[in-house]
Amino acid sequence: MSDDKERTVELHYEGGVLKLPVFTGTEGESTIELKTLLGSTGMTTLDPGFGNTASCSSKITYIDGAAGILRYRGYPIEDLAVHSTFLETAYLVIYGELPEPGQLKEFSDKLRDNSDIPAEMGAFIDAMPRNGHPMTLISSAVNTLAAYCDDSVDPGDENQVELATIRLMAKLPTIAARIYRNSIGEAPIAPDTSLDYVDNFIRMTFGDKAPTGELGELFNKAVGMLLVLHADHELNCSTATVRVVGSSLADIYSSVSAGINALSGPSHGGANQAVLEMLEEIRDSGISIEDFLEKVKAREMRLMGFGHRVYKNFDPRSKEIKVLASQILDRHENPDELFALALKLEAAALQDSYFTERKLYPNVDFYTGVIYRTMGFPTNMFTVLFAIGRLPGWIAHFREQAVDPAFRIARPRQHYIGAAERRYPGQG
Ligand code: CMC
Repeated sequence: MSDDKERTVELHYEGGVLKLPVFTGTEGESTIELKTLLGSTGMTTLDPGFGNTASCSSKITYIDGAAGILRYRGYPIEDLAVHSTFLETAYLVIYGELPEPGQLKEFSDKLRDNSDIPAEMGAFIDAMPRNGHPMTLISSAVNTLAAYCDDSVDPGDENQVELATIRLMAKLPTIAARIYRNSIGEAPIAPDTSLDYVDNFIRMTFGDKAPTGELGELFNKAVGMLLVLHADHELNCSTATVRVVGSSLADIYSSVSAGINALSGPSHGGANQAVLEMLEEIRDSGISIEDFLEKVKAREMRLMGFGHRVYKNFDPRSKEIKVLASQILDRHENPDELFALALKLEAAALQDSYFTERKLYPNVDFYTGVIYRTMGFPTNMFTVLFAIGRLPGWIAHFREQAVDPAFRIARPRQHYIGAAERRYPGQG
């Protein structure tokens, strides 16, 4: 945000004219500061879904939705997806710069050393309903980290926040894998500190069934790239939730747990599961793609994995994921017929004016489910993978907010349209 307050816009209202400062962002975008609006005019703004509201200044992620640009800390997503690793990208997102080799090793070693979970916490996870949705279960487990790791719950203490950062990053894959193994009735597998972050998660999840050799390497690369592509996305619903909860000075575990719940919905991260279910429904019902799209246009349902609040052009993540999906499916012995169906559905939608006029393009979730399914993840684990990828972003936003001198508790206003004052029966 520029501190040049010379640019202003004027608001003409019944009581006069109010000059409002305009801030200029790094890429030249303009933001009107409304801080004085209520005090000066008695008026608030109404912006459902915060479609036009910047609730903070941030240095983490830049998106230009019209041009299909996404950058973490200035680095284009296309470069990071191909050349970086998830841990390097996580470090970049959380700490602001790419790590030197020694810094990356130290980060990675700390994560290995903290990857186990306390025995009591393992028992707590094992006691949760095994057929519950894994997003519900990981959210609950992450919430209880505040109790198991209560020496790292003070958001005002940088050392405690750093400790919590390491613990969250280190333990979430262990928690997620344990919840998966409980769901299939298999014993948990302890972290293997000789493996890298991604391989360790795949091994804790699939054990001896994890692919090895060339296919194993491809799966590692694919999961790593998908996590990089999900690492942050500025003020999306779950990250905004993390910030809102954190703004009350709640601890980071509670804030991230709330973010996981926000991510679980089908309009957000839960869309990757919903896409797969939609593709299965199309295949199993035998409905033609044309007839399915007619139902979407008649508003009987949404085309899941399409559309985005910010991208009004191709989601740059979906381009990378589509390429990855064809690489995985080409090399896999059982290529997934749902990928072919997804390709046809995308092509048909992009030729239909309903979608083009509304600038509805495939988003990050359109092809991820097909990839995860081919790898053997059950449908209800897809959003958990999104959560593991998004964790660095949630942490980075929590940390940025905790030291932002401009931060205040999140407390939106409302436009009240309910009953005017009336008397309780019998009271006059
Ligand atoms: N299928 C059919 N119509 C759609 C879709 C869709 N997927 N998305 C938007 N529209 C229509 C919508 O009906 C509206 O039409 P009209 O102007 O005639 O009323 C217009 O497009 C604008 O939609 P909107 O609901 O105002 O857009 P929004 O910015 O509030 O919603 C969205 C964004 C992502 C929630 C929405 O596009 C959607 O529900 N998509 C499907 C779910 C999905 O794939 N979600 C994942 C988003 S990306 C990853 C993430 O955030 O986690």
